Amino acid sequence: MRLPTVAIFDLGAELYDWFTSQPLWWGSCARLATDLPRQARVLDLGCGPGVSSLVLARQQPEARIIGVDLAWRMARRARQHVLRAGLDGRVTVVRASAACLPCRDASVDAVVGHSFLYLVPERQQVLAECWRVLRPGGRVAFMEPSAAPARPAAILAQSHDPRFLVSVSLWRPFSALHGRFTPGALTRLLRAAGFEDVSTEPVLGGLGIIGRGRKPGPEGGGERR
Ligand SMILES: C[S@@+](CC[C@H](N)C(=O)[O-])C[C@H]1O[C@@H](n2cnc3c(N)ncnc32)[C@H](O)[C@@H]1O
Repeated sequence: MRLPTVAIFDLGAELYDWFTSQPLWWGSCARLATDLPRQARVLDLGCGPGVSSLVLARQQPEARIIGVDLAWRMARRARQHVLRAGLDGRVTVVRASAACLPCRDASVDAVVGHSFLYLVPERQQVLAECWRVLRPGGRVAFMEPSAAPARPAAILAQSHDPRFLVSVSLWRPFSALHGRFTPGALTRLLRAAGFEDVSTEPVLGGLGIIGRGRKPGPEGGGERR
């Protein structure tokens, strides 16, 4: 039986916040901002305590970020971080399910998720929602756990930061339970949802994989008056 995932994130919000507050995780979040239009309106699905949303906001100073999370303690923590960072004008946090987004059709330029999609049993429904809320030409990017084997020496070569080591030692078993992606599986999932120009790249020394895609339609957007 699948563990009550969102309840676990609710209970573990503080701990999660602690072990993801480290440079390697921030760097991986920043990779999701590649290719975004300057003034993009971006949805960050499963924003957790806000680390991914804050990194995106700093990476793209003219973008507006909407963080979405179903766990209320995660959403509350994300709001606290946004206020503390003085980014409340640009980052909004909403408690909602990614399978039923509180957004109008074709209203955002990009949808990203950092360590999120693998947790969701209803992936097709979530991707259909991404498609609905994206404008034509809009982008998706998801960073997910990789199915490639993790070698301890390669993990330690990246960092000895205890926060990083705790995050990896929890991420690996959690993803073994919920799902990991090969480049082919992530590509097929995004293509099946209708996205084109799909590509993948390894991150976090091969522990993670980013899958990107584009909703068919004209390039551009994200330049607002
Ligand atoms: C592993 S955390 C990732 C947090 C953040 N993006 C990061 O990279 O540190 C995944 C988050 O997804 C949230 N989540 C799981 N299922 C969800 C759903 N259906 N809708 C919205 N959020 C969901 C969980 O509550 C959790 O906070």
